Amino acid sequence: MKPGSIVIVGTGITLGSHLCPLSRSYIENADVVFAGVADGITELWLQEMHPDVRSFAPLYAEGKSRHITYREMIELMLAEVRLGKKVVCAFYGHPGVFAYAPHKVIELARGEGYAAHMEPGISAADCLHAALGIDPGKVGCQYFETSQYMFYQRNTDPTAYLVLWQVGIAGDKSHARFATGAAYRQVLVDLLAGHYPLNHQVILYEAASLPFQQARITYLPLSALPDAEMNLKTTLVIPPARKLEKNHQVLARLALIRAAELEDAAAIEAFDAFEMPEGEYQADDISE
Ligand SMILES: C[S@@+](CC[C@H](N)C(=O)[O-])C[C@H]1O[C@@H](n2cnc3c(N)ncnc32)[C@H](O)[C@@H]1O
Repeated sequence: MKPGSIVIVGTGITLGSHLCPLSRSYIENADVVFAGVADGITELWLQEMHPDVRSFAPLYAEGKSRHITYREMIELMLAEVRLGKKVVCAFYGHPGVFAYAPHKVIELARGEGYAAHMEPGISAADCLHAALGIDPGKVGCQYFETSQYMFYQRNTDPTAYLVLWQVGIAGDKSHARFATGAAYRQVLVDLLAGHYPLNHQVILYEAASLPFQQARITYLPLSALPDAEMNLKTTLVIPPARKLEKNHQVLARLALIRAAELEDAAAIEAFDAFEMPEGEYQADDISE
């Protein structure tokens, strides 16, 4: 393996409390740290852990495609890896959840023969499941990026939770905007109306990024989404609108398998329980 490495860590959502000890240790022992975090306060906090923290914030601009920004970020990180440095990049949340550059830089660095890996972090999803009391194991949960959900034919399951990320830029094809407007969201509402009644209660969720802030949890009818307040941190959560429906075909097949297992079990049990009636056979009878 060549000298030079990269580790991608997640700082979590809430400043100061979500960073795991392992990720902190990577930051403290790095040669250079890059920061793709949500605010300047988090950057200041990272600077307390390392003297050379380089922010990605100046690479973002309204009107500039985020694809260009991501390429620039990747090039900056790889340039330091190629110099043989131990590079750490801290992204907010979980660095591998709805994030392009972290996955791509790992792929490219590995392709060039450098050690590269990602440590998990606390995502907005983790905060959401805790704050809204949603257990994805209960009825299931679908995650989609909002614009992708709009641009492509997706299978919506109204018996599960539907979580739409980046709803604040719903319908943006330019990848260069920080917000879209009511007309774009109306298209989303019309699409969702194919699966949910317009008066269905949905949730706009924003986890607190600073310890003294409160999370925003706003319940509103689906029809009110176009005019609702949202920003780059808003996630839309749509609770199920229908009850789970049984899959009778699969249940019938499983019942047959179980019945066969029980019959087998009953046969084994009967075999084990069988006792040779005393004196009925002689040793000679068996050897025949
Ligand atoms: C590019 S993704 C990054 C997600 C991040 N990697 C994570 O693990 O949470 C940005 C989207 O994440 C969601 N998000 C980010 N911060 C959030 C917060 N504080 N509360 C709720 N959702 C948030 C929003 O849907 C936002 O549009």
